[in-house]
Amino acid sequence: MTLSRRKMISLIGGGVVFAATATAGAFLTTRRPERALAPWLEAGNYAEPRMRALSYAILAPNPHNRQPWVAELTGNDLLIIHRDKARNLPETDPFDRQLTIGMGCFLELLRMAAAEDGYLLESDLFPEGEVGPVAIIRFVKGGNKDPLFAYVLARHTNRNGYEDRPIDTDVQSTLASHAQIVSDQTDVAALRLLTWEAMEIEMTTKHVMMESVDLMRFGKAEIEANPDGISLGGPFLESLMLAGMLSRADQADQNSASFKQGLDMIKKAMNATNAYAVITSKGNSRSDQISAGRDWVRLQLAATGLGLAMQPVSQALQEYPEMAAHYASIHEKLAEPGETVQMLGRLGYGSVIDASPRWPLETRIADGR
Ligand SMILES: Cc1cc2nc3c(=O)[nH]c(=O)nc-3n(C[C@H](O)[C@H](O)[C@H](O)COP(=O)(O)O)c2cc1C
Repeated sequence: MTLSRRKMISLIGGGVVFAATATAGAFLTTRRPERALAPWLEAGNYAEPRMRALSYAILAPNPHNRQPWVAELTGNDLLIIHRDKARNLPETDPFDRQLTIGMGCFLELLRMAAAEDGYLLESDLFPEGEVGPVAIIRFVKGGNKDPLFAYVLARHTNRNGYEDRPIDTDVQSTLASHAQIVSDQTDVAALRLLTWEAMEIEMTTKHVMMESVDLMRFGKAEIEANPDGISLGGPFLESLMLAGMLSRADQADQNSASFKQGLDMIKKAMNATNAYAVITSKGNSRSDQISAGRDWVRLQLAATGLGLAMQPVSQALQEYPEMAAHYASIHEKLAEPGETVQMLGRLGYGSVIDASPRWPLETRIADGR
């Protein structure tokens, strides 16, 4: 996750900090975490078919950008995909539901990338149940190319405010084949309120918020050392850090001016939403969650292809006691009794944004060869 330049400008409130000296100015132009973004350039640059498909799969959306996937290459054609439980999010995702959805996004990109190369994936999901791998996958000749693959490198989570204009109706109907689209303005207003309240609960519930604070990466050096979690980078945010106006301590302190400004910025962006997309499922098994992930990434790729921006707003879907009332309300609004709302996201016309960091593929390979 990376905060945008626009958000940043509102945070510094008038440019007191930025580039106070020529040296600082020059320093700040070097703040793009090139190494952490390199996996986006290296996707596809592998000779081995499984590695080539994996190089796209690691670009999948996933909660808190934890990238919990580990791949084991066995023999000539087998891939065993594990989820690294050391990367769990026990506060915001106590039942690993969202992490499993992220694995579904990963498996779908893997499938699409393999199909581009003429491979069909024969997958066995959770062959040993909850304790073992997420999937054992055999690469066999076949597979049909998927037009949505064209948008894998352009898909990013956009946390900015979106333009104040409705989504064209033909675009809405295309997306309706992927998800439930909420665009009725009364319903949208109710969701804006609910999602914002849920965000406020998350950010002011100390034990939950600290999970995110611990995963924040402040500036290029931290992002490159740990290219996962919540990246706070770029010249503007780094100028704030240089000026002592943005720090881990401030983010952990609900009374700090910087924390309050941050909350304000998030509220503004979340309110700049004219539509939402929703994915529900009848069951809530691990394979239902994997399917929801596959559907979510396909939806996001389709939206990207149609020139739309998206951001999941998952707070009200989270399963800790302080969120229970909002979890119930969102289910009442968006799902039939017994169904689970797996994903809820903002949808709209947004500005162009940068990619988020990834660990190099080689660091996600288990020593199984
Ligand atoms: C299950 C799931 C839940 C997510 N929830 C949120 C969320 O509540 N807020 C948010 O800004 N991003 C959320 N994301 C997006 C991730 O933070 C994002 O995919 C990750 O940081 C990588 O960035 P990218 O999508 O730009 O590649 C979620 C993603 C998934 C798969």
